[in-house]
Amino acid sequence: MPEILVTGGAGFIGVNFVRHWLTARPGDRVVVLDALTYAGNRESLAGLDEDRLEFVHGDIRDGDLVSRLVRERAIRTIVHFAAESHVDRSILGPDAFIETNIVGTHELLKVARACWLTDHPGPHRFHHVSTDEVYGSLEPSDPAFREDTPYAPNSPYAASKAASDHLVRAYHHTYGLDVTTSNCSNNYGPFQFPEKLIPLVLMNMLAGKPLPIYGDGSNVRDWLYVEDHCRGIALIIEKGESGRVYNIGGLNEQRNIDLVRTLCGVVDARFQRDPSLAALHPACPAAKGGRCDSLITFVKDRPGHDRRYAIDAGRIEKELGFRPRESFQSGLAKTVDWYLGHQEWCRRIADGRYREWIERQYASAGRPA
Ligand code: NAD
Ligand code: TYD
Repeated sequence: MPEILVTGGAGFIGVNFVRHWLTARPGDRVVVLDALTYAGNRESLAGLDEDRLEFVHGDIRDGDLVSRLVRERAIRTIVHFAAESHVDRSILGPDAFIETNIVGTHELLKVARACWLTDHPGPHRFHHVSTDEVYGSLEPSDPAFREDTPYAPNSPYAASKAASDHLVRAYHHTYGLDVTTSNCSNNYGPFQFPEKLIPLVLMNMLAGKPLPIYGDGSNVRDWLYVEDHCRGIALIIEKGESGRVYNIGGLNEQRNIDLVRTLCGVVDARFQRDPSLAALHPACPAAKGGRCDSLITFVKDRPGHDRRYAIDAGRIEKELGFRPRESFQSGLAKTVDWYLGHQEWCRRIADGRYREWIERQYASAGRPA
């Protein structure tokens, strides 16, 4: 049975990818390597076929461990998600981003080179999952990011991802490693840790807490439903050209304030349709027939906040036939339903690693912009 190694497979996109791959490839096994940082959650992989999924608790910077896994399981494909992924945390403390995103990626590349080019030459693929944030920030009238847009990362997070992209590229050009890279826009959907905008405001709405909007809320992001991203990655692994970079986007640019208002409307409507939700979430304004957007609070802006991201996804569409399937309305509805239906998961997250972060958000929400 072919096995692939998925790093960061207990995080938001990794979990969705593992689920996608096991469903789409019934003959394959997946080995997940994850350090279970605050963002990783073993429970998010629960319920999957244990015969086809192996979980290894470990760090991508541990070259000996990675090397043992790749050799013992005869791994020929690595899909690399593991990262520190939150811009705000990178502003507060960049060191972990340098360690995991740059040093960690380099450790994986070294192992891949040794195993696949020197010791056991043969077909292989290293897919590197990256972000559109490496391209920097756009003005409202600028054309969307293309694969040949010059890199101009602004946050420590974006800079660390840019560095990792360059290392992946260099291992292809210098050593001939078979690599592909995808640079994707903002994802949303099930299992996202509630420090990121959509799950954060969703959980705050249900708890009747402020919805912190940085600055004036006019920053623009392109949003892609996570299942579409996973399909795109799978397509690149299968059919993408070695050494090539593919941008993946949702064709869905939204100002933060508009996105949050839309999300409030989805939750208000859900409460109107299902009166039993009021008893489960009594603090939510919608429980008393009110509106969630009454919780919107403008707070001090993020330092160096990128104005706009937009993706030109022409290459992956033309070359691999990829287009997102989910509309923003349908994706948001699925996301809201998932969080409402997984309150136990949310509670456990909120009881632990999420609390410190959310409290900081509440504190900043108390300080008007
Ligand atoms: P996440 O923060 O939810 O998950 C990251 C996972 O990596 C966690 O399970 C964590 O435990 C694990 N991890 C962290 N450090 C590790 C280490 N040293 N060794 C092993 N595991 C480690 O992140 P995500 O949102 O799922 O993002 C996954 C990847 O996709 C990242 O590389 C990110 O840069 C990229 N990306 C994310 C988005 C997005 O909107 N979330 C968009 C584009 C690209
Ligand atoms: P985020 O989800 O952190 O993703 P990224 O910074 O990688 O784009 O933020 C998405 C946008 O939402 C970004 O412009 C910052 C903004 N934002 C808020 O306005 N309030 C919040 O509480 C958070 C977490 C983000």
